[in-house]
Formats: sequence, C-alpha cells, structure tokens
Amino acid sequence: MMIVISIVQQKGGVGKTTLAVNLAGELKSRGSKVTVIDADPQASAVVWSGPRKLGFDVRAEVLEDDRLSQWIRSVLKQPVDYAIVDTPAGLGPVFDAAVDIADLILVPCGPSSLDLNAARVTLSRIGSSQRKDPGLKARIVTVPTRVEAQTPEGQQITAELESFGEVVAPPLSHDVYFVRAFTQGVSVRMAAPSSNAAGEMRTLADFLLERLRPT
Ligand SMILES: Nc1ncnc2c1ncn2[C@@H]1O[C@H](COP(=O)(O)OP(=O)(O)OP(=O)(O)O)[C@@H](O)[C@H]1O
Ligand SMILES: [Mg+2]
Repeated sequence: MMIVISIVQQKGGVGKTTLAVNLAGELKSRGSKVTVIDADPQASAVVWSGPRKLGFDVRAEVLEDDRLSQWIRSVLKQPVDYAIVDTPAGLGPVFDAAVDIADLILVPCGPSSLDLNAARVTLSRIGSSQRKDPGLKARIVTVPTRVEAQTPEGQQITAELESFGEVVAPPLSHDVYFVRAFTQGVSVRMAAPSSNAAGEMRTLADFLLERLRPT
C-alpha cells in the first residue's frame, strides 16, 4: 500500500519543499520507492530535480480549476511506497485535497511568530477538513524548521508547537547544508552524509516511520 505524506503550511518559505525533497532522499536511501508530487505552480521541487541527480521522480501535478478528482487520481496511481506531496503556501483547494488524501500530514514551521500563527491557522483548517470525514486516518505532525538552537526563539519553538496539541517532530536546524543541497540538485544525505543536516533528516525519518507503523 502506498503511503501519502502531504506537506502543508499556510505561510510561504517555511521549508516545505526542503522537507519534501530531503525526506524523499532519506526514504529512498533506505530502499523505498519514492515520488515527490510538486503541486506548487512555482515548481521549486521540479527545479531541484533538474540536474537529474536525486534518483527519484519529482512530478509536476498542479491542480487545475475543477480537476480535483483527476489530480487525486494522478497522485494515488503512483507505483511507489511513498508519495510525498509538496504544496504551495495558502489554504486553497490543493491544500484541502492534499490533506484529504494524506496518511501523514506534516506542518513545517519556523521559529518566528508569523510562522507560528500560520501554523495555528493551518492546524485549525486541517482540523475542520478532517471533521468532514471522521474516518480519515491521517495523522498530523508539526516539524520545527530553520531552528537556531542558540536563540530563545529556537529554544521555545518545540514548546510553542506542543501547545497547539499536535505531535511535534525532532527539529531541523537552520543550516546552510539545506540551502546547498538545493543548489546542487541533491539531498543533504547525498551532499554530505555525515553532516548535521543529514543526521537530523535521519532522526526525523525514524520518528515519522515510527508514527506510520500500524498500531
Ligand atoms: N533548515 C533550513 N536551514 C536553512 N535554510 C533553509 C532551511 N529550510 C529551508 N531553507 C531555505 O529557506 C528557503 C525557503 O525554503 P523552502 O523553499 O523549502 O520553503 P517553502 O515552504 O517550500 O516555500 P514556498 O512556500 O515558497 O514553497 C529556501 O531558500 C531554503 O533553501
Ligand atoms: Mg515550496
């Protein structure tokens, strides 16, 4: 059975695409078949895959006006173990569709109060779309991103996210290796396997796979 992991946040620039591509790289390195679905018209994940070094597919699947069921079908038909859906910022139709089909919903959030406010709005929107169908099995995990552990904001973000009542993943630091991986068209694991960034992605993947185990 394919597992859909959707990455959503109302706010732009919080690290959705960085999380999508690096998580895909980490899962692939563990022997899983992975596709990233780039549902963002900006196509950042597609650009990332441009040099053809990632070793997994990044498919542009932008949701057109009223083609919702077609979009969902094209995600669900991927012959992979994990489809990781990277979405644009905002709370439009693609946000709801990505949430609806997700087995796991990741909400990345940086340490600024702008990010945290947007995370709160994002979680409440996810809550309302899940209440439409109580049978949905999606689980929600917030992911602290661009964390600077030496700052008060960096030290508080996990507690702030916990106060929203959802599970909080181990954090991703603010780290130039994440920026560089994009520039080089690779994942942090491929660029620098012994880097702190690659280690954090490993820890995060362990955490998420544990959440996905049937209970
Ligand atoms: N952990 C990190 N450390 C340092 N820089 C980061 C980190 N995560 C993301 N960035 C950088 O921040 C910028 C925004 O990240 P990214 O594109 O992943 O965010 P996004 O949420 O997908 O944005 P958008 O809403 O525009 O799609 C990029 O330049 C990226 O390289
Ligand atoms: Mg993006």
